[in-house]
Amino acid sequence: MMKVTINFHKGSLLIFFSNLWYFCRMDLRKTFYSLPASWRYLARRLYFLPGDWLDLASGKRSPMEPPRGLVYTGNGDFVKEGADLLDHLVKIAGLQPQHRVLDIGSGIGRGAVPLTTYLDEQGSYEGFDVVELGVRWCQAQISRRFPRFQFQYIPLANDLYREDGADAANFRFPYEDGQFDAAFANSVFTHMLPEEVGNYLREIHRVLKPGGKCLATFFILNEASKGMMQDLKGFYFPYDHGHYRLFDEKVKSANVAFEEDYLRGTLIENSGLKLLEFYPGFWPGLEKASCKSFQDIILLGKI
Ligand SMILES: C[S@@+](CC[C@H](N)C(=O)[O-])C[C@H]1O[C@@H](n2cnc3c(N)ncnc32)[C@H](O)[C@@H]1O
Repeated sequence: MMKVTINFHKGSLLIFFSNLWYFCRMDLRKTFYSLPASWRYLARRLYFLPGDWLDLASGKRSPMEPPRGLVYTGNGDFVKEGADLLDHLVKIAGLQPQHRVLDIGSGIGRGAVPLTTYLDEQGSYEGFDVVELGVRWCQAQISRRFPRFQFQYIPLANDLYREDGADAANFRFPYEDGQFDAAFANSVFTHMLPEEVGNYLREIHRVLKPGGKCLATFFILNEASKGMMQDLKGFYFPYDHGHYRLFDEKVKSANVAFEEDYLRGTLIENSGLKLLEFYPGFWPGLEKASCKSFQDIILLGKI
C-alpha cells in the first residue's frame, strides 16, 4: 500500500513538473514580465547562480564579461553580440578609432567592451543608462581599466527595468552640443514609448557633430513586417495603439514596435536627423541569413 502511494506521489510530481516546464517554456517571457521589476533581477541572478559559480571557480570568464546572472539585457551570447554590434558600427556607421562615441542605454557593457580594443588613445566613449546595476558594473570593470570610457547612472522611468524615475520624454542628455562623432542605441528604442523616443532623437541631433551618425535598432511595422508577424506564435505585438504597438499591455516598455510612416514622418522628421539607411531584421520572420540582426537597424545622420 505504502509503495503504491509513493509511486502515485512520484508520478504526480513528474506530471506537475513537466506541466510547469511546458507552461514556463510556452510563456516564460510573459511570466517574467509579470514579476515586479526588482524581482526580475533576483530571478535571473538565482537562475544562473550555479553556472556563474562554476565559471568563477574555473576562472573561465574574463573580468570584462559580466556573470550571466547580471546580464539583465538579454539571453544571447554577450561576447558575440558585442562583436557584431562593433562590426555594424564600423561598417554601417563608419565608426573610426579616434571617434568620440555616445552609447545610449549602455546596459552592462555589451557595446562598450569591444570598443575598448577598437578606440585608440584619441577616441573616447560616454554611456548612460537607467539601471544602476549595469552602470556600476561598467564603472568598476571598464572605466577602472579604460579611463576614457565613462558611464552615468540616470534614474529615469521605464516599467520594464525600474519601478520609478523621472520622465525620459523631458530628459536632456548630460553632454554639450555637437561633441560626438557617432552615437548608438542598441535595443533601447525597442523598450521606449513614442514621446521618449522623439525626445531622444532630438537630443541625439543636438549632441552629434555635423556629419555625425547614429545607429539605432527598432521593431518597425510596415506592410511586410505586419504581414509576416501575423504568422508568429511567440513574438508579435498584439496591442495596437495607432502609431505604435505593444508586446505587453501591462509592462508597456517590454517591447515596443513603431509604424514606419510615423517613425520616419514624425519622430525622425521632427528631430532634424535624416534617415540614411534601413536594414530589416529577422524578427518578423525573414530568413536569418539574409539579415544583419534580429532587430531592424537604421542609420541616422546629422547633415
Ligand atoms: C535590451 S537592453 C540593451 C542594453 C545595451 N544597449 C546592449 O545592447 O547591451 C535595454 C537598455 O535600455 C536601457 N534603458 C531603458 N530606458 C532607457 C532610457 N530612457 N534611457 C536610457 N537607457 C534606457 C535599459 O536600462 C537597458 O539597459
